[in-house]
Amino acid sequence: MNINYLHKIAAGLALTVVFSSCMKDENSFGYEYMPDMYRSPAQEAYVDYGEVRTWKSNDSIKNTQSAKLPPMGTIPFQGANAEPAYSMPYNRLPSNAMKTTHGAVSLEYNDGDYDASVADANPMKMYESNVEHGKQLYNRFCTHCHGEKGAGDGSVSNSEYINPPANAFTRADGQMFYSITYGKGVMGAHASQLNKKERWEVISYIKSMNGEASIPDPVMKMTSNVVTEEVAEDNFSKKSLLSSLTQLADETTHDVNHSEAHTLNLDHLVFATGSSNLDMGKSQETLEVLVSFMKTTTKSLEFDGYTDNTGNAEANLQLSKDRANAVKTYLVQQGIDAGRITAEGFGSANPKASNDTEEGRAMNRRTEVKIK
Ligand code: HEC
Repeated sequence: MNINYLHKIAAGLALTVVFSSCMKDENSFGYEYMPDMYRSPAQEAYVDYGEVRTWKSNDSIKNTQSAKLPPMGTIPFQGANAEPAYSMPYNRLPSNAMKTTHGAVSLEYNDGDYDASVADANPMKMYESNVEHGKQLYNRFCTHCHGEKGAGDGSVSNSEYINPPANAFTRADGQMFYSITYGKGVMGAHASQLNKKERWEVISYIKSMNGEASIPDPVMKMTSNVVTEEVAEDNFSKKSLLSSLTQLADETTHDVNHSEAHTLNLDHLVFATGSSNLDMGKSQETLEVLVSFMKTTTKSLEFDGYTDNTGNAEANLQLSKDRANAVKTYLVQQGIDAGRITAEGFGSANPKASNDTEEGRAMNRRTEVKIK
């Protein structure tokens, strides 16, 4: 074996090493010698285990993910989904200028939407709980720039680059929402830190800083596992009444011995003063819900009429009976079997509140529905 031959073998081996260190797959970066230095050993969300998480691709777990993003165009559903206003997609688009400041944040842009957002309605009430939660979020996400009172004097501001204006919070609610969502100037977008409800909560807190009074939270009523809001005059919804009735029917089914009375106050059944004539303008929706409820169930209902304690007790008793009967009559006219409806009147019995105030008396004049 001459020396020349040995050279050839050495050169051949070297070439083998050079070529074998590259993988055949042209998309591969080659061997990773210390994968856990650049691959997170943590359980990652939204990744394809087969390709990304393991340094060797593993066909048997390809296309399996730890978690998936919700399908496009769907909205979160929580319980009775009483808060669709916060779940619907936000239809305003970022402006073209944001491409340079915030990167490609969207597939579509619209320069008019920032100005148009002034007109967007704020769906949130200034309930104390909203303001309180908004304050916590504000302190976490905004104070360091905008300052505790919104004067623009946060701990990282007043620098060469970050100078939030002292009047940032004088914008319309809808426009603040837009800027919190997409960012403005050096302020980054907060859409991925705060969901839509949280953004409105922050705005509630900003408004309270601006001097707007908050209002007490509505009384929440627990009927087994569903929390229903004791509906105020303006936010009556047919949907929530129907779901309360359905819930009540479920409870009745489970409580076979009727150990509890399953009743609901029909707040929006209104009669003309001193008469059993239904005020259809105010009562129509409740009546429609009662009819559709009866069409979806085989259960029976009882309407219980009550009055306040003013006037003659006997007359009150009769009036409460007539009112309960008026509701029954309406349902029967709409094709519901009369045998499934009972109507009772109890005059001023079982008051819900004191009869000494007008507010209390208004609460005592009521029609309750009982599911049997
Ligand atoms: C990095 C610092 C920083 C953070 C964090 C920050 N902002 Fe800002 N914000 C700014 C600056 C700077 C401006 C002025 C932007 C401009 O007009 O160029 C601004 C402007 C605004 C405006 C006025 C927007 C407009 O339409 O003119 C609102 C409202 C606002 N911020 C709310 C918030 C809220 C709410 C938070 C917390 C969720 C927040 N900001 C977090 C720096 C910040």
